[in-house]
Amino acid sequence: MEIKEHENEECFNVLLKQGAEARVFESTFLGKRSIVKERFSKKYRHPLLDSKLTLKRLNAEARCMTKARRLGVSTPTLYAMDPVLHTLTFEYIEGPAVKEVLLAFGEHGVIEEQMDDIAKQIGDAIGKLHDGGLVHGDLTTSNMLIKSSTNQLVLIDFGLSYTSTLPEDKAVDLYVLERALLSMHSSCGNMMDRILSAYRKSSKQWSSTMNKLAQVRQRGRKRTMIG
Ligand SMILES: Nc1ncnc2c1ncn2[C@@H]1O[C@H](COP(=O)(O)OP(=O)(O)OP(=O)(O)O)[C@@H](O)[C@H]1O
Ligand SMILES: [Mg+2]
Repeated sequence: MEIKEHENEECFNVLLKQGAEARVFESTFLGKRSIVKERFSKKYRHPLLDSKLTLKRLNAEARCMTKARRLGVSTPTLYAMDPVLHTLTFEYIEGPAVKEVLLAFGEHGVIEEQMDDIAKQIGDAIGKLHDGGLVHGDLTTSNMLIKSSTNQLVLIDFGLSYTSTLPEDKAVDLYVLERALLSMHSSCGNMMDRILSAYRKSSKQWSSTMNKLAQVRQRGRKRTMIG
């Protein structure tokens, strides 16, 4: 019998990212390209307590992602959860991270239309999350993917997400993104303004969040002055 080279394809996992709390692999799930996120243990914790906490976080991530989807925000489909191996398996999203798109703008010049479209989608998505009482917790441009087939924004990495309706929490969520944009993508000058104007249209609770954002920015400024 001829042995096909790819017959055992399902056995291979390719490590994409080794973080402090999780490892991310590319894999296949029922023949479909997928992402496996494995939370691993902290060696200094008691093994039983550790397993419990890891499982809690895994559950929280899956639940927040599902909630985001219910609120009308695109996220990868959750294929499976393994409570023993501490893994979540997601649909693989084909396409670049917003980070890569913005860095390319920095190198080759901004494509206004594309930047505007991405900013609108980001503002709209965050507004939906926030009105639904969900704070993403890690809004960076690497946690936003652009699906190549549809140019649709897909939010990933709900590992730090939590439910909250406090304007302060939402403001900090936006502030994290603002800082990330300012430091990484200075050539995309008014990206944050565009995101915020889309957010204004999307979120009914816009004004209370924006008032808080002004305070959070001021606190940030004071902190940098003190050093
Ligand atoms: N569904 C997906 N499709 C394609 N690529 C993905 C997907 N999920 C994750 N990735 C890739 O893997 C990287 C890491 O994934 P993720 O952001 O979920 O993990 P992390 O940043 O290590 O998590 P945490 O912040 O919770 O420790 C992403 O930046 C992205 O490049
Ligand atoms: Mg991430």
